[in-house]
Amino acid sequence: MFLSDTHLPQLLPPSAYTDPTWYITEREHVLAPAWHAVATTSQFPRDGSFLTFDLFGYPIVLRRHGSVIRGFLNVCAHRLAKLTSQPTGYCSALRCGYHGWEYDEVSGATKKIPDAPSFKPLEKGMLGLTSVRVETCGGLVFATLSEDAPCMAQSLLACGIDVACKISSMGCLGMREIYFPVNWKVAIENTLESYHVEEVHPRTFKRAPAEEQCSHELFPSVSVFRGPGDTVPWIQRLEGVLLSGAAVPHTGGYRHTHLYPTCTLAETDTFTIVLSFLPESADRTRLFMSWFGSQRAGASAVWNSLIRSWGRVQSGFWLKVVNEDLSMLPTVQQGLASPSHPGTGLISRREERITHFQRWILDRMHTDTTATQPATTLATHSCPSAASPMENVLT
Ligand code: FES
Ligand SMILES: [Fe+2]
Repeated sequence: MFLSDTHLPQLLPPSAYTDPTWYITEREHVLAPAWHAVATTSQFPRDGSFLTFDLFGYPIVLRRHGSVIRGFLNVCAHRLAKLTSQPTGYCSALRCGYHGWEYDEVSGATKKIPDAPSFKPLEKGMLGLTSVRVETCGGLVFATLSEDAPCMAQSLLACGIDVACKISSMGCLGMREIYFPVNWKVAIENTLESYHVEEVHPRTFKRAPAEEQCSHELFPSVSVFRGPGDTVPWIQRLEGVLLSGAAVPHTGGYRHTHLYPTCTLAETDTFTIVLSFLPESADRTRLFMSWFGSQRAGASAVWNSLIRSWGRVQSGFWLKVVNEDLSMLPTVQQGLASPSHPGTGLISRREERITHFQRWILDRMHTDTTATQPATTLATHSCPSAASPMENVLT
């Protein structure tokens, strides 16, 4: 059942989805303080593997050192060039490609400066890269620009996500990145309602579940939808066999969790797809998606492998669903960008998770933007509160 008895207001104005000035404030007060799913551990196959990307304008480099993935702002302390523009690869040292400054792989402090005497009286280790907090949860890598954001693993645990089973490194089946010309909230809000199912997904989902089959849960920074999983009898039987073989609980249900602001997880008993909507600008988003088969540590390798195979089959369906949504969303964005609108918009009871999310955004946008200190400050290479190695050990 839905929580609200009546329809609800659309709280965000159209400019929230189109205005570059809104986006700049949002970046500071909504995006920078939060965790974001940015990679999978499978993208770091060995010591020295690295990945670079922009996180709402901040160039980031993630690099595996030993069994730990560490993050830094991808900006050199010498003349502020990016260390590298290569999107992914392997490097034996954390080194800037312009003049060759090298940095400590753990602390980010300068380690080697070519022709160091010409920088007198600069001493070794005085300058360094800016650290970025990284946490590895199962097969997913999260990053935040905040020093204060609470531990991501605990947040996942608190909302009942069985990381070891649902998003394990072993269960990771694939990942993909898609750029599209839509504000990130348009894309997120689309995942928070099943009202569009019959129009947008006539070939996949076909029909939205009846209200009696649905439930919504609203928490301070999370919302959850629960509904029925696949109801095709042979699929239920197959999943029952696979799950009992691997000792994974069989609920027959579907759960969609939104971890505010940018990350969603859609789970069935055997399969999880994670969609991370990473804003690039007011009207452009990078979708980083990854998908997993459920795994049970201690179950026989054969059963875990069979569930992964079934997960690969299911991924075809889910990628089709995502494509159906992405085909529709630019049309939504274009309507929002119109200079005038027939009213302020309206949210149905079935779409009530959207209003909850919009209120959360507004609460943060209304923080005092005139304060001299930014809400978020990046840790320097010497900051003692940067994530401890134990927090992002590959598992
Ligand atoms: S800008 Fe990086 S070494 Fe000069
Ligand atoms: Fe959809």
